[in-house]
Amino acid sequence: MGGNNKQVTQGKTFRLGILGSGKGSNMVAIADACAAGRIPAEVAIVLSDVENAGILGHARERGLKAQFFPPGKFRTKLDEEAEKNLLATLERENIDLIVLAGFMRILKGEFLRVFEHRVVNIHPSLLPAFPGLEAWKQALDYGVKVTGCTVHFVDQGVDTGPIIGQQTVPVAVGDTAQILHARIQEAERELYPECVAALARGEIKVQARQTIWTR
Ligand code: GRF
Repeated sequence: MGGNNKQVTQGKTFRLGILGSGKGSNMVAIADACAAGRIPAEVAIVLSDVENAGILGHARERGLKAQFFPPGKFRTKLDEEAEKNLLATLERENIDLIVLAGFMRILKGEFLRVFEHRVVNIHPSLLPAFPGLEAWKQALDYGVKVTGCTVHFVDQGVDTGPIIGQQTVPVAVGDTAQILHARIQEAERELYPECVAALARGEIKVQARQTIWTR
């Protein structure tokens, strides 16, 4: 894993905890960028609330620690116990940055207080346009000519935290939802590693809603 390039803070490598519920293409892009030394960090753990999610398989293929955690009784959030256990796991692993990569549950209160400005997400639109589910479909239905993806800090709202980076993607005549989503995901695989690398290098400062890239 790209040893020489890793960010070392007080003798410690910058540690990522990646959470996802789906196929894991963003996790793969980030893990491979770490392995290649393009992100000065290591993937300490990959966690999923879906036992057979592709993200866990891809992580294990790469020799990464990968665990399913039971999310509890709700559909769109974690129950109190699940959230407590998840927090304990991430603290035990000494995680510096939590990277949400297709994680389909909302994180809240205590969790975000403990990890303030240390939880990031990628959303498949140019926020604040089209927050929420199936953003690529919302964009297509609206008829926009340009959409894209956004990496942002996670705050108490849904897709509302300070924006770290955005990449545009054109909408073409005849695009289906599936084609447009695939084009957006290609952009995600460029943008997310770039943003995570900047965060690992300590190059992103947050001032209220603004983020400042210091390099
Ligand atoms: C991505 O399109 C991302 O924008 C959204 O969920 C999807 C996850 O895909 N948050 P994958 O599991 O990383 O392939």
